[in-house]
Amino acid sequence: MRKEFILALDQGTTSSRAILFNKKGEIENIAQKEFTQIFPKSGWVEHDAREIWSTQLAVLTEVIAQSKIKLEAIKAIGITNQRETTVVWNRKTGEPIYNAIVWQDRRTAEYCQGIAKKGLAQTIQDKTGLLIDAYFSASKINWILTHVRGARKLAAQGDLAFGTIDSWLVYNLTNGEKHITDVTNASRTLLFNIHDLSWDKELLDIFDIPESMLPTVCSSSEIYGETSTELGSRPIPIAGIAGDQQAALFGQLCTQKGMVKNTYGTGCFLLMNIGKKPVISTHKLVTTIAWKIGNEVNYALEGSIFIGGAVVQWLRDELGIIKHAADIESLATSVDSTEGVYVVPAFSGLGAPHWNAEARGTIVGLSRGSSDAHVARASLESVAYQTFDILQAMEMDSKSKIKELRVDGGATQNNFLMQFQADILKTNVIRPAITETTALGAAFLAGLAVGFWKDIDQLQALWKEDKTFVFDKSKKFKTELHEWKRATETVKFWAEY
Ligand code: G3P
Repeated sequence: MRKEFILALDQGTTSSRAILFNKKGEIENIAQKEFTQIFPKSGWVEHDAREIWSTQLAVLTEVIAQSKIKLEAIKAIGITNQRETTVVWNRKTGEPIYNAIVWQDRRTAEYCQGIAKKGLAQTIQDKTGLLIDAYFSASKINWILTHVRGARKLAAQGDLAFGTIDSWLVYNLTNGEKHITDVTNASRTLLFNIHDLSWDKELLDIFDIPESMLPTVCSSSEIYGETSTELGSRPIPIAGIAGDQQAALFGQLCTQKGMVKNTYGTGCFLLMNIGKKPVISTHKLVTTIAWKIGNEVNYALEGSIFIGGAVVQWLRDELGIIKHAADIESLATSVDSTEGVYVVPAFSGLGAPHWNAEARGTIVGLSRGSSDAHVARASLESVAYQTFDILQAMEMDSKSKIKELRVDGGATQNNFLMQFQADILKTNVIRPAITETTALGAAFLAGLAVGFWKDIDQLQALWKEDKTFVFDKSKKFKTELHEWKRATETVKFWAEY
């Protein structure tokens, strides 16, 4: 029998990737291309949307060529993407009117503070599940409309389209035919009501954005359209879309209420499936849509850590105490403890559950005997402690205790970190066999829509663990957790004065 595949397009913050999955959910082939990061001013981050499309198209073509398969062997395409990043393009020409403003970009921080000062935070959180922050798309769209010459006029004429990266890719894959997004991406814009699943007129007014710019919102798993014949003789159905963190939650098969995943990348993203009803956080987490399949919506609580694996790059590139990222584990385990040293890597502020933009990093507890090994160990431990803080907030918001933590991302290869994570959480940490869970989630969503896989039960059977880090009951961390808390308080105190 001829082999069949699902192609996942994973458009991330630093690279565009295409991954081909077979029926067992295994990777057949991967192609990846990095693209330019543009930093026009301090705190500004942009991408060239055209380059995003050209690199995505290049890897799509490359992975098919590498695999030596016919286009008809690809049953569907699933898309997953860096979220919130904002593209505005001209419907008539298909050309972006400004670079994509990336989720990390802080240029609209002051504008967002102004909205918060109007006392709108609660209304906005109740409707969108989000906090007013420059991270999300709305203020970025407003910035483009305000600062690009002629943009407001074009928008009023209905000539401008807004999209997150998924919309931009679908628009190009279908040669301009479809202007759509899915609920998970819509739920990151600050414009989408997560209860009635529609663009919210009041929010559009607050951010001064005309509704005509917005894409049609679809579910996360359905046939949205087909690739245009310009991309190849045979059209391929586009059948799954989810923002990358939601896709990873699905790829980890966290499909039951209470299940949690953490992706350890440059930063960390924790998502907890909270079931079919949204819970609005009282502990500074955000509520987001996990996915919509058929008519069923699943919600998630999310907390993000700005500096996760990036702390290892800092040790390597700025402090120079390791040569290669992989050296961190042996250096960190060359000592038995940090001996009271704590690193709080708040290099670009603190994310959830603190949301302190002014905070900056610190090392506390140094003594005459403190060495590079102690700092390395404390740096790694900081990733686990930050995760602990978010999980604690999730447990309080959801009023449930987590049973296990599923993990993915580069830093999960660090066995010391994973074991330490399990020990301080007093919860088992499970690393799956396939750690490309983001792309896998997008493939699963697309595969379900075209009947490549029958249902979620069939997917459950494909998910395999690589290793479970069983927590050590005998280890107590009361003092350490208290000290960590004091260290983060120090950082906040420093930011205030
Ligand atoms: O919210 C931002 C997130 O989606 C970015 O993910 O993996 O591209 O850094 P990543």
